[in-house]
Amino acid sequence: MKPKVKPNKLVVLSGSGVSAESGLPTFRDAKGLWNSYSWHELASPEGWQRHPEAVLAFYNERREKAWQAQPNAAHAAIASLEAAYEVVIVTQNVDALHERAGSRNVVHLHGQLAYARGTSEPEPKRYRIDGSPIVMGQLCEDGTQLRPDIVWFGEAVQHFEEAEEHVATAARVLVVGSSLTVYPAASLVRYADRNAEKVLVALDMEEVPRGFTFLQGRATDVVPALAARWLSEAGS
Ligand code: APR
Repeated sequence: MKPKVKPNKLVVLSGSGVSAESGLPTFRDAKGLWNSYSWHELASPEGWQRHPEAVLAFYNERREKAWQAQPNAAHAAIASLEAAYEVVIVTQNVDALHERAGSRNVVHLHGQLAYARGTSEPEPKRYRIDGSPIVMGQLCEDGTQLRPDIVWFGEAVQHFEEAEEHVATAARVLVVGSSLTVYPAASLVRYADRNAEKVLVALDMEEVPRGFTFLQGRATDVVPALAARWLSEAGS
């Protein structure tokens, strides 16, 4: 049974490009993280088993940078849409810039830098650490070594079914700052209703998903103008 589209629901699927102008690196373009670091060594369970200290140091550096970064005009414009729409952000990002810009419904598919967790399965305990580092020997209450609460390559994405439902019931879908190359997050665009208004904002895109209007440009230029149009359409 196909879930019903809610006329006032607006879903944003964001990637690292929305935080690029806040100074946080993306992954795959020229200066992307995975061009300087090996994701397999630093963002996988195998890397964690082999050299946990290197993994902790990699995320400590990213967590500190993310904690010092400020939300930009795109984060602010997305937050402003809550004045007229039921907004849900489904993000691949692990920074907290959407929340710090004022967005209240943020679903993190790939975890969050501001949290640490134990290494017991299936329900590890989570601890909010904001910008603090995690060091070897820092243990969860169950005695296991604390690790970043980040979904590594090969691990299950968080909240995916919830994300599917949000995209499928949205009358407006905005994809901003994602190359849509990492699955299953990238597959979410397929759940968008064919009658929904579907917009994609990026600097460049290999392939624009069917039914999406591609607005090429920087998030801080394009998203505020789009948000202003949507707010005026809603009579705000
Ligand atoms: N404004 C708008 N879009 C931008 C900007 C900007 N200032 N800068 C970069 N972009 C766009 C690029 O055009 C590209 O489409 O953001 C996208 C960045 O793509 P990726 O680097 O692949 O980042 P992302 O899609 O978020 O990666 C997804 O990969 O490694 C995993 O877990 C990691 O969540 C990440 C996932």
